[in-house]
Amino acid sequence: MSLSIEVLASPAEYQARAPQGYAGQACVVFDVLRATSVMVTGLANGAAGFLPVAEISEALAWHQKEPTLLLAGEREGLRITAAQSGSVEFDLGNSPREYTAARVHGRTIVTTTTNGTRALRSCATAELVLAGAFLNLGATVRWLVGQSFQSVVLVCAGTGESVAFEDVLCAGALCDQLTKAKRDCHLDDAALLAWRAYREAASDLVAVVSASKNGRRLSANPELRDDVAFCLRQDVFDLVGVRADDGAIRAVRI
Ligand code: MLT
Repeated sequence: MSLSIEVLASPAEYQARAPQGYAGQACVVFDVLRATSVMVTGLANGAAGFLPVAEISEALAWHQKEPTLLLAGEREGLRITAAQSGSVEFDLGNSPREYTAARVHGRTIVTTTTNGTRALRSCATAELVLAGAFLNLGATVRWLVGQSFQSVVLVCAGTGESVAFEDVLCAGALCDQLTKAKRDCHLDDAALLAWRAYREAASDLVAVVSASKNGRRLSANPELRDDVAFCLRQDVFDLVGVRADDGAIRAVRI
């Protein structure tokens, strides 16, 4: 069975696509720096799930209904403060290195980030939604190959209203692995671009991504600079982050 692979490289593209929807399709959402890398890391460390929401107010509403939820996310890359929420300090920011087993094991985390959670929410009509990252790329490919989808859309969360280079590179890395694992893949032009870009960058991903907008932004902050190399490690976790019926991203172990 042939597989069509599309890449939506920017927020404008996936926002424009949302009304048409993703009926019968699988979406893999990439926010490599850092929302989907955070989710995959937290799930690997035993988190029960991540509830992605678009707004701080939504996160607070969830927390009011269920006070055991951990409040997480970022604005301008930093943990959300009481001044920003109007009430409480959030428990966690958006560095994957915060999501240790000691901190998150067994907990469900409601999270709001600038782009990543919005991109995940924009795929609401998809039959399947996965959180994609370099950290679990191989597991994601193996899981997709085992499914019977004929169409996969790779959604690049971006940064602000712009393309995020690292998201497109990760989409290209998935194309690279998927075309090796599964014959008869048909890539759209954006997927071909992403694939070529990844193959060009693969030999020195940290250096290439460190020059990107998000790479430079994070590297400029001594507390966050180690997130770049952390999020670019490949196939560290053998799990897939899958959207469950309740909307949470939960771990499926491969
Ligand atoms: C995003 O959602 O745009 C990113 O995850 C932001 C960040 O982690 O700094």
